[in-house]
Amino acid sequence: MSPGKQVMVASRLAKRVQYNELSNYKDYYHLITHPQHAEEFQIMVNILTTNETYFFREPKHFEYLEEQILNTWKGSVFRVWSAASSTGEEAYSIAMVLAEKLGSRPWEILGSDLSTRVLEIASEGVYLMDRLEYLEQKYLTKYCLRGVRSQVGMMRVVDKLKDQVKFSQINLMQNLPYDMLQHYDVIFLRNVLIYFDNETKKAVVERVIKALKPGGHFFISHSESLHRVTDQLDMVKPSIYRKR
Ligand SMILES: C[S@@+](CC[C@H](N)C(=O)[O-])C[C@H]1O[C@@H](n2cnc3c(N)ncnc32)[C@H](O)[C@@H]1O
Repeated sequence: MSPGKQVMVASRLAKRVQYNELSNYKDYYHLITHPQHAEEFQIMVNILTTNETYFFREPKHFEYLEEQILNTWKGSVFRVWSAASSTGEEAYSIAMVLAEKLGSRPWEILGSDLSTRVLEIASEGVYLMDRLEYLEQKYLTKYCLRGVRSQVGMMRVVDKLKDQVKFSQINLMQNLPYDMLQHYDVIFLRNVLIYFDNETKKAVVERVIKALKPGGHFFISHSESLHRVTDQLDMVKPSIYRKR
């Protein structure tokens, strides 16, 4: 770990060392690696992951989805996987675009993450109103309920949308369940590859694109690159790829 990272990890875990009445990080390491303390291990994962996200982050991706993919899509059920969905804003942004564009045609979204803390927030679908800067008024009016009384300053995603978005814990470091293989028309894997070294990045991308249908689209962040990572994807635009 670089010195900068060490400081970050130490400061994030300091409270847990204290909470468990331990005197150093070595003892904490022994604690979390003991099978009896799986719960503490998950707490550590929740604390160590960086979960920054917001509605319609990198708006060009949602425009592309709407104009280039959905306009010409023909099929039975349109399926999207928001891998590393964090607190759910990405999955619900996609849901708003699908609901608007596909109307009554069927669609499903899976949002997944390693952190159980963010998955709980995502499943609730309740967000602070002052974090909705990039959410267009048309979507806000149609797909969000403003909180009243004790909920003032919050909004809740409407049930009609929430019902079609499921959240589940998936570790991108592990093999995917069999039923996810070639299951998705579109996969968003944005702002997570930056946390991996090159070898891990390759393994994660290879694994994730197994879930993509041939011809399906794959989105990464504009700040990430797939240079020399896989030969199974063709770039259609910077940060947007298509499976062969
Ligand atoms: C910065 S957020 C990105 C959220 C969203 N995709 C976006 O672009 O706004 C990165 C997420 O990746 C998740 N993550 C990190 N390592 C992971 C892994 N091995 N498996 C699944 N999710 C992981 C973190 O928990 C975090 O919520």
